[in-house]
Amino acid sequence: MSILITDIGELVTNDPAVDGLLGIRRGAAIVLDEGRIAWVGDATAAPAADTVVDAAGRAVLPGFVDSHSHLVFAGDRAEEFRARMAGESYAAGGIRTTVAATRAASDDELAANVARLVAEMQAQGTTTVEIKSGYGLSVVDEARSLEVAARFTDETTFLGAHVVPQEYADDPAGYVALVTGEMLAAAAPHARWIDVFCETGAFDADQARAVLTAGAAAGLKGRLHANQLGPGPGVALATELGLTAVDHCTYLTDDDVAALRDSGTIATLLPGVEFSTRQPYPDARRLIDAGVRVAIASDCNPGSCYTSSIPLCIALAVREMGMTPVEAVRAATAGGAAALGRADVGSIVEGGRGDVVLLEAASHVHLAYRPGVPLVRRVWAGGVEVS
Ligand code: NIG
Ligand code: FE
Repeated sequence: MSILITDIGELVTNDPAVDGLLGIRRGAAIVLDEGRIAWVGDATAAPAADTVVDAAGRAVLPGFVDSHSHLVFAGDRAEEFRARMAGESYAAGGIRTTVAATRAASDDELAANVARLVAEMQAQGTTTVEIKSGYGLSVVDEARSLEVAARFTDETTFLGAHVVPQEYADDPAGYVALVTGEMLAAAAPHARWIDVFCETGAFDADQARAVLTAGAAAGLKGRLHANQLGPGPGVALATELGLTAVDHCTYLTDDDVAALRDSGTIATLLPGVEFSTRQPYPDARRLIDAGVRVAIASDCNPGSCYTSSIPLCIALAVREMGMTPVEAVRAATAGGAAALGRADVGSIVEGGRGDVVLLEAASHVHLAYRPGVPLVRRVWAGGVEVS
């Protein structure tokens, strides 16, 4: 069934053939058909369709592409957050709390939690989401975490190397051997990507390299959590390996910035984490001015950042990281798509997936200008209205 969305005041296309970073067209219309964007043009020339949606001068954007989330978990860490806001600092060790809760949960409980969070994301305009494992940290629990994640997305990521679990506290090398061996073999059929938390208190560069190399041999593409809690070797490793994206990038040296620029590895910034941990925000302006490609994602997880809202992340990126609204919206759409190596999402061009957001506002600027306001009015994913 075809859907014509017409009288669009501002259509964000991200189409390189249209001028400007967002490829904005005014007075436009689009047609969704058979899951795809079937037509884009002037509203005056729009073809007929089975259903007509009058945007009445509002803005229409590509669905957001959230390229970094950890949705497969049980329980929450509200108490840890409360303590942090009272002065405690964030530490990777909190992950073990969620590991215990996740191991104790059934597949159905985990899936219900993912469904709840995916629905939250969709209601806020996210139409593509990457979902990591990383709260199982045993062969069985990582494999079932990924099996659950794969029910909701094709963009599944094996994060067995999130932290060393309690039972391997005295044998981190043994844990890396497990991750690169039996755990990887069980996870790989359900995963597209492999990720490592490369940070003091988690895994060092040699361990991260071993995990990513083993993952590549098993057919998984690499991503990395790096330079989140302090300067470190992760960004250099990601650029050396030519990874598609390296995420967090909060503490960067000039050499890291130059390596990102030269490699083309995308720096995925996660401003909800700095908001929720009271860490300093990464300097997006420095990266963009140096010619680094950036994405914005939520990092939705129960520890460092429990928001599912890309509009909030856009507002934070603009207010706190020196990005313009154009740059932030681009980073959350085309940027996220590039960070997942996807050409079919993150833009509104003929033939692309029918992932579209209608705002309750005349311009994308309102996403940053009106923080905390539910501006996402209607959402289509694969040409079907989902929210
Ligand atoms: O991306 N940095 C590592 N992992 C998550 C946090 C996980 C947690 O605290 O539960 C992150 O911030
Ligand atoms: Fe993360």
